[in-house]
Amino acid sequence: MAGVGCPFGDIGCQRTYSTTSAQFRTVVGMNDDHLNVCASAEWGAFLAETIFPTVLDGVELGDDLLEIGSGPGLTTDLLKTRVAQLTAVELDPTLAASLATRLDGANVEVLNADATDLPLPTDRFSAAVSFTMLHHVPTVERQDRIFSELARVVAPGGTVVLNDSLGSDALRDFHHDDVYNPIDPSTLEARLALAGFADTNITVNEFAFWVHARV
Ligand SMILES: C[S@@+](CC[C@H](N)C(=O)[O-])C[C@H]1O[C@@H](n2cnc3c(N)ncnc32)[C@H](O)[C@@H]1O
Repeated sequence: MAGVGCPFGDIGCQRTYSTTSAQFRTVVGMNDDHLNVCASAEWGAFLAETIFPTVLDGVELGDDLLEIGSGPGLTTDLLKTRVAQLTAVELDPTLAASLATRLDGANVEVLNADATDLPLPTDRFSAAVSFTMLHHVPTVERQDRIFSELARVVAPGGTVVLNDSLGSDALRDFHHDDVYNPIDPSTLEARLALAGFADTNITVNEFAFWVHARV
């Protein structure tokens, strides 16, 4: 499915924080062509107008930010305007190569790598973020490895922001040909503490959760 449609098919996952039903319909309505939706102006606008203000405004990202699971890079486009240097880690080689080409010359380094085993130095980053990515990680153990890796590569005092949709039958159906392993946010405080985080703040609404945690 990669290369034809968005390999993750979950643009509808993030359909509301404070969004209107009209915004919801706009995003979900374009989901037939997944890649086009993942890279669409509508998704970019939804990120810019709803998700980022809700999840990131007021968060100190510092000057050396890590993003994991950048996909086609609409989150990356927004993040790079907020920091001096951004590193985007993407598992899919085609998506990573495409993003690296598109952002050549920008303040972004794109790495084709697995966030469960980051080829990056300990204490390097001022902060790290993940948007609409964790439910694509197939096991709880691998999700926990990602948390541990984020705790390792972010310097003490740095913030990690994790955002994803809540699990639902509809989204499970939507991911019928893809990995779908949504996180139960009630498990996160303990899991993040085990990974080495402190000051974990978890917000949940009807559709999504977002976490601010400090290393
Ligand atoms: C649904 S996309 C989200 C893209 C972007 N963050 C957004 O919100 O528009 C999830 C991305 O996470 C990537 N991903 C999944 N598991 C990963 C891992 N272990 N390491 C790095 N990237 C991963 C997928 O390849 C995919 O591109």
